[in-house]
Amino acid sequence: MQRQLISAGLTALSLILVSLVPWTGADESNGLGDVRSFQHMSQEDIVAGRIRFEDIVAHGKLLFDAPLTRLDGQGRPATTGAGAKRVASQPDFIRTSAPDSSSCFGCHAQPRSGGGGDFVANVFVLAQALDPVTFSVDPLFSNERNTLGMMGAGPIDALGREMTRDLFAIRDAAKKQAARTGLPATLPLSTKGVAFGSITANPDGALDTSKVSGVDRDLIIKPFHQKGVVRSVREFTVNAFNHHHGMQAVERFGIARTGTADFDGDGVEDELSVGDITAVALYQAALNTPGRVKRTDPVRAAAVAAGEAAFSTIGCAGCHVPQMSLNDPIFCEPYRLNPEGTFNDTSKSFCFDLTRDGQKPRLERNGGGAIVRAFTDLKRHMICDSIVSHFCNEKVVQEGVPVDQFITRKLWDAGNSAPYGHRGDLTTLTEAIEAHGGEARAARDAFVSLPRTDRDDIIEFLKSLEILPDGAPIVVPEAALKSGFAGK
Ligand code: HEC
Ligand code: HEC
Repeated sequence: MQRQLISAGLTALSLILVSLVPWTGADESNGLGDVRSFQHMSQEDIVAGRIRFEDIVAHGKLLFDAPLTRLDGQGRPATTGAGAKRVASQPDFIRTSAPDSSSCFGCHAQPRSGGGGDFVANVFVLAQALDPVTFSVDPLFSNERNTLGMMGAGPIDALGREMTRDLFAIRDAAKKQAARTGLPATLPLSTKGVAFGSITANPDGALDTSKVSGVDRDLIIKPFHQKGVVRSVREFTVNAFNHHHGMQAVERFGIARTGTADFDGDGVEDELSVGDITAVALYQAALNTPGRVKRTDPVRAAAVAAGEAAFSTIGCAGCHVPQMSLNDPIFCEPYRLNPEGTFNDTSKSFCFDLTRDGQKPRLERNGGGAIVRAFTDLKRHMICDSIVSHFCNEKVVQEGVPVDQFITRKLWDAGNSAPYGHRGDLTTLTEAIEAHGGEARAARDAFVSLPRTDRDDIIEFLKSLEILPDGAPIVVPEAALKSGFAGK
């Protein structure tokens, strides 16, 4: 099968037909005994179209799933999980401050590779930055978070980029208006139907961002982490490899930025190439998109339909936006706005079509664009208050975001992503809804005061949203679920 893959150049998009020759890597050993888990992939080969899309994704999956070893560069004796030089000694493995697992898959395993995790796979976020490490799981030292799944991560990453572009355009329009009129210009910040407060530009070009809400004042949507503080799958991947495994990416820790090829002091140089990180990012971005199970039993089918309607009527859809449109379904790796230390050279991009390539089910096409049914607004909300306080259970401030704010959780996998809540300490969907306070208090109270049957309808609706088997259509009749699906 031929795939059309597009490599974006600095000036123009050029169409490249990707190599049909399988990639094997260059193995210097005879494969016997303890050997490296993988051979490096080069960004140049990826961008030049010398490697098939399937092989890039397979390499990404290998790096994601493989138990990483000393030979690969696992461990970071000289640095913390946040990437700083370490003073105290570092245990080889430690559950709290990490290295905490030998593979990404160790946590991201439900219902399969790339998915979420049980409570036992929780991460003690920010404990990785401590030097000396902490052996304590006390909330004073870290924020305990449940593992999220990356099915649909490509569409989410793409949506964040388009929303950011819209917010930047509004900011620029305010600047222009102020310069033209000689008066301060205030414009509402809104993209894809989601309001992020307003911005004021002064005639001298200075910006007043004090009324910006739900996003950082730099107006960059950061869809990742339940806190909404990371802007791309790639940025998260570079962080995660260092944090969880002590595997350091050349783009952040290589000789050009740190002056040494072995920044973490474990004896292995250049542990992850730019191409390796591209492959892992593309593996996640091309995972299947969650979809829906169509109930066969008419009573359950009616409950789902009633629940879906009620979900909007009582105010859940205000944050959990049922669908958003993506103008351009072409996903390019890397993102232009990746921060310093995460590869962002878009003259060396690799692109694929989220609606045509990658695992099925894929994003639904809609004209030239696509529909993302993720049930989120990619906005941060204050989600607890003094009475409904469950979600106010964190103490350590992450990236300056107040401890009571979280990004609206995607619900497109709600049917098979238990346990629930950012800490994974809620066992049922009902408990998760009842825990909503703060800005979600009115919707939560409306839910609680519904008759039992109406509440059950909403739960039935949420249960129908699932990570589906690979190869399935985006809406699957319940009866077909057990039969399995051919192809990808
Ligand atoms: C010890 C368990 C653990 C390991 C190992 C792990 N993760 Fe995660 N991952 C998590 C948790 C927990 C979260 C949610 C973090 C949060 O919300 O603060 C997460 C979130 C993510 C996200 C963001 C998802 C989203 O929607 O916000 C990405 C991307 C990701 N991980 C990639 C990786 C990669 C790549 C690796 C391997 C290099 C990896 N993870 C290893 C537990 C783990
Ligand atoms: C003000 C915005 C807002 C409103 C309104 C809202 N939610 Fe949420 N919802 C969130 C946020 C933010 C989270 C993440 C909470 C956390 O774990 O910190 C969340 C989490 C959830 C979860 C947990 C999902 C998981 O996998 O852990 C469910 C289920 C849910 N919401 C359902 C609903 C329902 C049903 C309603 C209507 C009664 C609703 N929400 C109203 C913002 C909102």
